[in-house]
Order: sequence, then C-alpha cells, then structure tokens
Amino acid sequence: MTKMHYAAITERLAHTGGAKWAIHQRCRAMKAKGADIIELTIGEPDQPPDPRLFEVCHASMLAGRTGYSSGRGEPDLLDAIAARYGRRRAGVDAANVLCFPGTQTALFVTMMGLTGPGDGVLVGDPFYATYEGVIAASGAHRESVRLRPESGFRMTAEDLEAAITPDSRVLLLNSPHNPTGAVLDAAELAHIGAVCQKHDLWIVADEVYEELVFDGDFASPFDIPALADRVIVVSSISKSHAAPGFRSGWAVGPHEFCERLLPLSETMLFGNQPFIADMTAFALSTDLPTAARMRASYRRRAALFADTLERVEGLSPFRPQAGMFIVLDVSGTGLGGEEFAWRLLDAGVAVMPGSSFGANAGALVRLSLTVPDESVIEACARIAKFVEGL
Ligand SMILES: Cc1ncc(COP(=O)(O)O)c(C=O)c1O
Repeated sequence: MTKMHYAAITERLAHTGGAKWAIHQRCRAMKAKGADIIELTIGEPDQPPDPRLFEVCHASMLAGRTGYSSGRGEPDLLDAIAARYGRRRAGVDAANVLCFPGTQTALFVTMMGLTGPGDGVLVGDPFYATYEGVIAASGAHRESVRLRPESGFRMTAEDLEAAITPDSRVLLLNSPHNPTGAVLDAAELAHIGAVCQKHDLWIVADEVYEELVFDGDFASPFDIPALADRVIVVSSISKSHAAPGFRSGWAVGPHEFCERLLPLSETMLFGNQPFIADMTAFALSTDLPTAARMRASYRRRAALFADTLERVEGLSPFRPQAGMFIVLDVSGTGLGGEEFAWRLLDAGVAVMPGSSFGANAGALVRLSLTVPDESVIEACARIAKFVEGL
C-alpha cells in the first residue's frame, strides 16, 4: 500500500484524546453487558432543558428558519449575547460577538486565530481534558501554571508570572474551573490581569460554568475595563441551560478580534443553525429555572460526597465552589489516581483519573455530581468499602 501523507496537525492531535477517556469507555462497555456500575465519569447534566427551548426551536423550524445563516451569527442572537455581556461592561455591541456551535469550537477557532507554531499558551494544571488538543492544534505548546491544592487550586498571579516565557502569548483561564470547581474572585483576577497586561498576553476566559457557582459571586476578567483589548470570553448554553447537544456557544472579544477571526470561523463552519440561534436568543433573554435547579442539586451532592468521603481514611475531598464535579486526593490510600480509578471500576464506580487533567493531577480522581442523590450515597458506600479493602 502507498504510504499517504497527512498534515502535522493529525500527529499533534493523535495522542490527545483516547487514553483520557479509557475508563469511561470501559465503563460503558461493561454496563452494556449488564454490569452494575455507578457512572461518575463525564459531566452530562442530569435534567432536561426547559421545554420552552424545544418549543422555540420547533416553531422556528416550522417558520422556515432552516436555511444558511450568517457566519458571525444571527442578528437577534448577537444582540442577546451583546446585551448579556453589556450588562457586565459598558460598550459591548454585536460586533464584539461571534457565534459558534459550543465553547469547544469557540476555543478551537480562538486558539487557531491567536497562536501558531512556537507560541506558548499558559494554562493552569490541572486543566479541562480537551485543552491539550485545543492548544496543540495550532502548533502552539502548553506552558503549565501549577494550581496548588493548598491554595484551593486557585491560580495565583505569582505562579502565573513564574511560568511566563518569551514564547507566551495567551493565558487560557478557566473559572469556575473543571475539574476542581475553584472560582477566582475579583481581586485575584485583577492581579492575574495586571500580570497579563505587563507581559502583553491575551486572556481567553472559558466561563462555561458561570451560572453554576454554589457560593460567592462569579467574577470575570471581562468585567475589568482596563483588560478590554485583551480578554476573550468563550461560553455556551451547554451547562447553564442543560443543553450540550444543541451545540450553541459564542466568543465575545474586541472588535478587531472578531473581524480577524470571522473568515476563519466562516471557513470552518459556514454559519450556524438559525433555529438553534433563535432558541439560544430566547434562552439568554428569558429567566428560566434550569441553572438554579442544577446549582442546588450539585451543591447538595458535592456536600454529600465531601462529608461522607472525608471520614474515609486515605481520601481527601476538595469541596468545589462551582460546577459539576468534585475531586478527591487519593494518595493517602497508597495508590495513584490512575490505579485507584481502574481498581474502583471493578468495585462498581467509574471515575475519571486525575491524569486525564494534566501532569499535576496524578494524585486525584474526579467524580461527577450529575447522578441522583441515591446514587451518590451508594457510590460513597462502594468507595468506602473499596478503600477499606485495600
Ligand atoms: C471547562 C469546559 N470548557 C468547555 C467545555 C465544552 O463546552 P461546550 O459544550 O460548550 O462545547 C466543557 C465541557 O465539559 C468544559 O468543562
């Protein structure tokens, strides 16, 4: 057979996927054969979207909104997103917005537009699993900023500054944070922002968990006027509206950023789906109960996990301030996160090993909060029994 040529991007991304999800995939295969496993691997909202989203989508399709759309986004959705961010910082208009099918695509296009071979992207470690690929795709490299358990996994301006190199171009910031649930406050963000100004870095803020903060206020670098020319927010309705399958998100940034990125976005997407845009515009301009319900259940389940598992010798849960997950340090059991997770699978609970979230997370496992309380209680019992049997 002729050996065909592939572009370097396929090499760069070849090892960024599969292995991270191996336990999840094994869990699904075992469940398909009838195994009784509590699945705490991925963060799929456990409640449906508000029924009004289906109604708006359906009505929009029936009204003929099934053609091609504009590359930037449908006007009503651009206005709804601009209005939402305009409440946080003055002077935001539709030209500050680009629509995408989800945060993931927004991140991909943003990174392709801001970085290339040789550029460094600073990112807290642990980090959300797909960041590795999102950074590597353009040929850029990851520059890890250690997130310390003793600081509640919150990035400090000092640790950020120490990680900066002459290559650094972008800080990819994620608050509220996946996997740890840490939420940076306004003062911390002001310090981080000042470091980015000093070193002339972009800040790409992934705020997909904005509406799932349990305690305290959400804060964002977007809200700091002095950073307006260097902050891009990426987000979506995936988490806030329990609607990941709709694939509806956006990037909000400076006018020039949007102008420069538009051809890239159009080249890749050739527009979004008008009926999804209509539904998203409705979702963003209507007071819906979905996020508050999720906040209440995830906060309750995080407390259930933490209160129960901190009594198990060898386990140290970190209480999340936000999001859909809780992480445990399992090093007190004598096992690393990876071995712990694989062995726990045979004991009937599937969790993500910390190693899926960076080099700094090897002692951790991540548990999803998106299962009913009864399953949380049963998972705690299985985990405690497993650890006691070690
Ligand atoms: C931190 C973070 N960013 C982005 C995403 C992807 O979101 P979307 O569905 O909007 O692409 C996720 C999904 O889990 C996430 O946890």
